[in-house]
Amino acid sequence: MCAIVGYVGNADALQIGLDALERMEYRGYDSAGIAVVEPGKIHLEKKEGKLTNLLERIDEVGRENFSGTTCIGHTRWATHGRPNDTNAHPHISFDGKAAIVHNGIIENFATLRAEIESQGIELVSETDSEVAAHLLALAYNEGATKGDFEASALSVLARLEGAFTVLFTHVDAPDRIVAGRRSTPLIVGVGDGENFIGSDVAAFIDRTKNAVELGQDNAVVITPEEYRIYDFQGNEVEGKPFTIDWDLEAAQKDGFDSFMMKEIYEQPAAVRDTLAGHFVDGRVVLDEQRLSDEDLRQVEKVFVVACGSAYHSGLLAKYAIEHWVRVPVEIEVASEFRYRDPVLDRQTLVVAVSQSGETADTLEAVRHAKSQGARVLAVCNTNGSQIPRESDAVLYTHAGPEIGVASTKAFLAQVAANYVVGLALAQARGTKYSDEIATIFDELEALPEKIEKTLELRQQILDLAHELGAVRTMLFLGRHVGYPVACEGALKLKELAYIHAEGFAAGELKHGPIALIEDDLPVVVVVPSPHGRPVLHSKIVSNIQEIRARGAKTIVVAEAGDEAVRPFANYLLEIPQTSTLVQPILSTIPLQFLAADIARECGNDDIDKPRNLAKSVTVE
Ligand code: F6R
Repeated sequence: MCAIVGYVGNADALQIGLDALERMEYRGYDSAGIAVVEPGKIHLEKKEGKLTNLLERIDEVGRENFSGTTCIGHTRWATHGRPNDTNAHPHISFDGKAAIVHNGIIENFATLRAEIESQGIELVSETDSEVAAHLLALAYNEGATKGDFEASALSVLARLEGAFTVLFTHVDAPDRIVAGRRSTPLIVGVGDGENFIGSDVAAFIDRTKNAVELGQDNAVVITPEEYRIYDFQGNEVEGKPFTIDWDLEAAQKDGFDSFMMKEIYEQPAAVRDTLAGHFVDGRVVLDEQRLSDEDLRQVEKVFVVACGSAYHSGLLAKYAIEHWVRVPVEIEVASEFRYRDPVLDRQTLVVAVSQSGETADTLEAVRHAKSQGARVLAVCNTNGSQIPRESDAVLYTHAGPEIGVASTKAFLAQVAANYVVGLALAQARGTKYSDEIATIFDELEALPEKIEKTLELRQQILDLAHELGAVRTMLFLGRHVGYPVACEGALKLKELAYIHAEGFAAGELKHGPIALIEDDLPVVVVVPSPHGRPVLHSKIVSNIQEIRARGAKTIVVAEAGDEAVRPFANYLLEIPQTSTLVQPILSTIPLQFLAADIARECGNDDIDKPRNLAKSVTVE
């Protein structure tokens, strides 16, 4: 969702803040703003649109006019109020002395707004966030916390409801920032004579690798020399220090024209690193295991909850876990899960899959599952984020930072990690012999090389996209594990090219969607291996013939050497041979390229930041 940054130190706060915003712009990019604070003065600039608009504006005003060594900055993904200059953050208090930035949703903002207005104060924006600035000024100017910036900020935090991270500054205390969080991220960066706050570590990765995680309903005061953590009542509490294990280079483009392209090429490493260390001395091991083998043996039902691409990875997990473990697996869109009143108990294992570990829908699903007594296992790419923190066990995907908004390497890593979960269950319950588990693991470990080979399809897909041009709609078909791949391919295309795309189970075609087929409609078909499940293969070959007969242009993703599909493919994209369940980790890749290339044909060059989207969706 939004990105927030805060800096206190002795250096050029403006430059440090803007650099941080640039690295974190993927979190939200419909407006951006920064406030540099010095004694008695706030230098504020904010602009609708991408960060470049803010940078241009700052150059117009003159960078020399932003002197100061404390700043707060924000890039926004709008929730309350349109993206425009006024609704952009930071927001300033009625007396011009306090500035705040906010990520999340203040649920009681209407009540707070009415209270502020009743004191004759006029709110200028349509946001829920602005109330925090005025409440801070009111608390600082009068009442029990008068003249005490830190106590005033804590008193405001204690009044907010919902999910929020808020950073407060005041001209009377220009050497410090107070920040607090509930259910949205806030990480402290601990530097040498300077300290930082960020929505994630990208905010300060260029200046320090020492970070501290804050607990729920915790606040932090940072000055250049120290940080102190409190609960909202002002009691001092401990944070959780950690060292960041990736560097600035990992968050930069490395010569690729987009983060997404770079991340597609990082997939061999993402899968390799995700699998590493999970099969030791013939045994499957998870990372933070607070579930015993006995717990896993008691599982009678598995739910996978996730959103978007992570949900598609869960669809794949269902095929693998049911096949390996013989327990029923339900996969559910996280936003629907808790409202449906699912049947959960101590014998239910809920697997929550999330790249960011912050997705509000998934987090709430986790909380609901736990409240019903279910055990929760998180599959997550972000160390220290909320979802793993609230889960009983964690398996981290080691895909590294994913900056492109459309998930690529994190998705492949999620599929691999979900399979590890399946194997851990199979091991604990004895539904697979250890040599069978070792064979599957061998196959997973052979994937990075096959992914490298699949990446060689790059030029062929570029040419194919060029030939197709700016298509208006596209269909994706698959059977069995090819079906989630089709859904993932369609999602990628929708979000990047802004065109209609739909993924179908190929068998469903004749129950309706076949009516959509018309001359020259591009249809992608994901073909299962002819060796693993020949029955699936022959069925999908018939489906390809059916759509070809009705004029579709077929783009067929099939195993190298699958000659049966060749006559029916307008374009044939060949991937290396592998087993049925593992094939999605390869067959997804050409669809990622295709989405990126068609997006460009359709005029969207900024594939890293598709319109209306944000990397971490921290609101429900
Ligand atoms: C699509 C995409 C999204 C995310 C979804 C869940 O390319 O990236 O659909 O997969 O928003 O996000 P996480 O995995 O962070 O919970």
